[in-house]
Amino acid sequence: MTGPLQEPEASPQRGVSLLPDEPGSETGDGAPPSREAVVILDFGSQYSQLIARRVREAQVYCELYRYDAPAEEVLALNPRGFILSGGPSSVYEPDAPKLPAYVLESGLPVLGICYGMQLLAHNLGGRVAASQRREYGSALLQVTDLACLLFAELPFALQVWMSHGDRIEHLPGGFAVVAQTDNSPVAAMAHPGRRLYGLQFHPEVVHTPEGADIIRNFLRNVCGLRGTWTPAHFVSEAVDAIRRQVGEGQVLCGLSGGVDSAVVATLVHRAVGDQLTCVFVDHGMLRQGEPEQVMRTFEQEQGMRLVAVHAVEEYLDALAGVTEPESKRRIIGEKFVRNFEREARRLGHFDFLAQGTIYPDVIESAGAGRPGAHRIKTHHNVGGLPEDMHMELVEPLRYLFKDEVRAVGHELGLPDQIVYRQPFPGPGLAVRVIGEVTWERLETLRAADAIFTAELDQEGLLRQLDGEGTAQAFAVLLPVRSVGVMGDGRTYANVVALRAVTTDDFMTADWARLPYDLLARASNRIVNEVPGVNRVVYDVSSKPPATIEWE
Ligand code: XMP
Repeated sequence: MTGPLQEPEASPQRGVSLLPDEPGSETGDGAPPSREAVVILDFGSQYSQLIARRVREAQVYCELYRYDAPAEEVLALNPRGFILSGGPSSVYEPDAPKLPAYVLESGLPVLGICYGMQLLAHNLGGRVAASQRREYGSALLQVTDLACLLFAELPFALQVWMSHGDRIEHLPGGFAVVAQTDNSPVAAMAHPGRRLYGLQFHPEVVHTPEGADIIRNFLRNVCGLRGTWTPAHFVSEAVDAIRRQVGEGQVLCGLSGGVDSAVVATLVHRAVGDQLTCVFVDHGMLRQGEPEQVMRTFEQEQGMRLVAVHAVEEYLDALAGVTEPESKRRIIGEKFVRNFEREARRLGHFDFLAQGTIYPDVIESAGAGRPGAHRIKTHHNVGGLPEDMHMELVEPLRYLFKDEVRAVGHELGLPDQIVYRQPFPGPGLAVRVIGEVTWERLETLRAADAIFTAELDQEGLLRQLDGEGTAQAFAVLLPVRSVGVMGDGRTYANVVALRAVTTDDFMTADWARLPYDLLARASNRIVNEVPGVNRVVYDVSSKPPATIEWE
């Protein structure tokens, strides 16, 4: 999900440098040469983003590049080490992705994961071959070299996640086996003198419980990095960078109520105060209490210059009679841009547009065109502001993952309700009122949704922590009526579906195993307290084949 106004550009341009500097280093316009950063080269693994997240969790800044990105672009980051991702290819296929020469020429530490390890072996004179059978799933790893820096302070036997067809038959010169499994005699290899390491398994996935520690060991023990990438550091650097970029200019920012735009607005406000004007368009598709909370937090508590546009009737008129989901999305997206544009022109001249683009958006748009990169739904609803407005983008979150955006929001003192808010689709409740959207149906849904989320919140389940709780939970109003009985009378009323999922990336998801008692309480309260609802059902579909939203 991007910020409300524009798709990220196809090629990442660094408008603002957000990287923490080491003490004493320059904070000029470019990246300081002494900063700690690592490059991850993506060879097509579905887990590449996860590697980047684990590195950031170890408080080391990193960027993810396609394996064939231009060398100058990659080296401009001044990396202190490389991580090579896995990938679906075999190194001996004629058009398999190659290891760029600069990696080994740099003399920097390298960690190759799965295909990345095989590439290292292949390039350094080892032999990779198809194994008798594909190894997929959990395996028990025996660390055989207890002095290996990658496994420092870890148990000798570790649960790891394997997913590979090829394996290493002969080690390249100078390498030694440092760990093995029953099926993989070379489950990990090392050449400590050259600081080159390879793992046949995937340390980045949750099914390798000590995987994050292995990655951290590589960063700390092998690359010698201290880990200076913290939210506080980020905030002070981002504020400086925004000041440098904006100067005396005027900045416009759209607030949606979501965490990304909230953090952007707060950062920009901290940097340039009243040079920022925020616009909040109330299109009537928000959850209960949301418009009021936006006004309270940003206008009253933070003292921002905030303009609220009440446009509910306009959106309802445009949606009258529309039932097709993509049409709803298109209508709301187009209207939103027009509203925003009209407001921007009315408010005067702006030099900059602050926007909540985050790193997954950038990675996804840079990778567009790769197999599997297509979108199932039109998630990026709006096309952007007209060119004649000539606003330069301010995108301070462009290199952050969602968890980091939340950590920064927390650091900035935003309320938990906003910082930990679950994702909410741009078209809002319009895609959760299945069928035609009317004010009455929106109000019915809002009331049911508020009860469900309040019950979850009460149990601490409105957040996902260690796979428990929910990553997204909401109510959906169905376009059917069902028969019921209340007192002595027969009813014929609305059905509400409750949806709650656990997920790490929103690409796949599982339905949340909520306690029966909680479901019972939510159901009881909804049929008793929400007029016109006599039945509640719980959605037990995973994604795929279902999606998280119903439309
Ligand atoms: P699905 O339903 O595709 O949703 O499994 C995955 C994630 O995307 C959100 N979503 C949207 N976000 N505009 C958005 O900004 C949309 O049109 C849209 N549709 C789905 C959804 O809430 C979930 O987090």
